[in-house]
Amino acid sequence: MVWVWGILGVILLIGVLYWQLILAEGAYLGRRVVALLYNWSAHVYDRIKAFDPGYEQWFLGLPLSRALALCPDPLVLDVATGTARLARTLFAQPGYRGRLIGLDYSRKMLQEARRQTQMWSGRITLLWQDASQLPFPDNTFDAVTCLEALEFMPNPEGVLQEMARVLRPGGVFLITNRIGNDARWLPGRTQDTETFEKRLAQLPLEMLRSQAWQEDYDLVWGVKPGVSAPPGPRRLEDILHCPICGGALRQTTQGYHCTNQHTLPIARDGIIDMATFH
Ligand SMILES: C[S@@+](CC[C@H](N)C(=O)[O-])C[C@H]1O[C@@H](n2cnc3c(N)ncnc32)[C@H](O)[C@@H]1O
Repeated sequence: MVWVWGILGVILLIGVLYWQLILAEGAYLGRRVVALLYNWSAHVYDRIKAFDPGYEQWFLGLPLSRALALCPDPLVLDVATGTARLARTLFAQPGYRGRLIGLDYSRKMLQEARRQTQMWSGRITLLWQDASQLPFPDNTFDAVTCLEALEFMPNPEGVLQEMARVLRPGGVFLITNRIGNDARWLPGRTQDTETFEKRLAQLPLEMLRSQAWQEDYDLVWGVKPGVSAPPGPRRLEDILHCPICGGALRQTTQGYHCTNQHTLPIARDGIIDMATFH
């Protein structure tokens, strides 16, 4: 009889591990486990996803570049940028002449992002950093985006507030809402469209519009209330803050240094390392 309980225990353990590691992608095990799983799968991520360039352009690149058409030199922040899927479709738009900062907590996903955006290397900056603390002043970006990632973060509410904080008034907000059958494997991390829109309205965001996109995700567009003139071109050191003391940064060939002697190294692949301070 004991062996029956033993076998049931093993089956249960395998089931729980499958749920936590494969279906929930480590979402309940902390940001380090999520990043580790993405580090392991980074080299096959695009192959698994099999992004269709036309579909990417139609739903992401084209509407975002149109929404930013009146900004003289738009700056976009893509939170949890992964392999730079958003940057690639945005830079492929002839109408988009701006820049993009991509932030992610998986170093290997960022390496893939770097590799896949070589041809636009002067227009993209990649930061190795957790999304719960965005190292930028209030009202900085013309658009802030986050695709297919919020449900894996331990503090989604805090991330949403950070995203809204760094978006300038009148700026474009784009995020995904997890839907579909697999959403039931992420209890407490997913919600229906109406509830999600109400949550975003409290940030506050306005002109919220959910759009059917994929089997597993809706796109949700919004705008930060208020008006501000697009600030135009800015250097990274003008907007990046030291993640330890919040101080202003100065760039040298080795990295960024703040007045309190903290250094953010720039790795050989050009990725700015902020994650080692966590
Ligand atoms: C499914 S991928 C989506 C990547 C990209 N946005 C896309 O649509 O292809 C989820 C991404 O979220 C990132 N991520 C998860 N938790 C994070 C966190 N706390 N901070 C920053 N990035 C995080 C992962 O490393 C991974 O690259």
